[in-house]
Amino acid sequence: MRRASTAIPRTTHDLRPTTHDSASMPEWFEEWFGEEYLALYPHRDAADAEQLVRLIGHCTRWSSAWRILDIGCGPGRHAAALEHAGLRPVGLDLSRALLRRARQVTPAPLVRADMRRLPIRPRSMDASLSLFTSFGYFDTDDEHAETLRGMAATVRPGGWFVIDFLNAAQVRARVGAPGALEPGERESRLRRYLSPDSRHVIKEIHLADGRQFIERVRLYDAAELEQMLTAAGISVRHRFGDYLGAPLSDGASRVLLMGQAA
Ligand SMILES: C[S@@+](CC[C@H](N)C(=O)[O-])C[C@H]1O[C@@H](n2cnc3c(N)ncnc32)[C@H](O)[C@@H]1O
Repeated sequence: MRRASTAIPRTTHDLRPTTHDSASMPEWFEEWFGEEYLALYPHRDAADAEQLVRLIGHCTRWSSAWRILDIGCGPGRHAAALEHAGLRPVGLDLSRALLRRARQVTPAPLVRADMRRLPIRPRSMDASLSLFTSFGYFDTDDEHAETLRGMAATVRPGGWFVIDFLNAAQVRARVGAPGALEPGERESRLRRYLSPDSRHVIKEIHLADGRQFIERVRLYDAAELEQMLTAAGISVRHRFGDYLGAPLSDGASRVLLMGQAA
């Protein structure tokens, strides 16, 4: 295996010696978000989703007619919670496996697409959501800014855009250089570390059956996210540090920003 401390892996294959051309390799987020991902995040469940949906509903004062796009909907837990709350969600995700799971929990329309090229009419949504760190996966800051602009463009004037992201300040304070693999769910072993320039947090996941995956997320802090949102035409109205509405701080577990489109 390539030494993790000297390179930032972009794909699972980067973790192994390979003779393939890396340009033709799938990106890590095309490989990792399947059944294995769900097995390793069991605490991110329906109750967790309902709590966040309640907070968003309280802040945006949505009405039951609202059409809401859940970008990176994964297994559909927020779409299901939105549906239960009487709204009209549309789930969008790249992962076939996770969309199949979503189909089991919600009758909402589900779209398979890449968030970088959204097949959604501009300004057609009352709200668009990016929940539980469904952002920060791409190679360049330009790609991230462009993706955020595309997501924000789906929202009608006065509608809402919500992003729920990891808290970069908290992650940088807790995570350091690569250490030993530690035990995770289902006999997996995990290692979480910062890239040498501290711009990414990387998680290596080694499954019991020998397969290896990575997660690689760009560490945008709250101010950077807000700047990108502003540039995308979203004025941030609410800032929280968790799903119960705690204030945003460096030690908060999440960065939750809710803003309105111009
Ligand atoms: C951390 S998961 C969160 C899933 C869901 N929001 C939740 O909270 O359960 C990130 C999701 O983003 C999706 N995703 C990753 N890259 C994507 C892309 N380029 N376009 C669309 N969805 C993508 C993954 O398939 C995965 O479902």
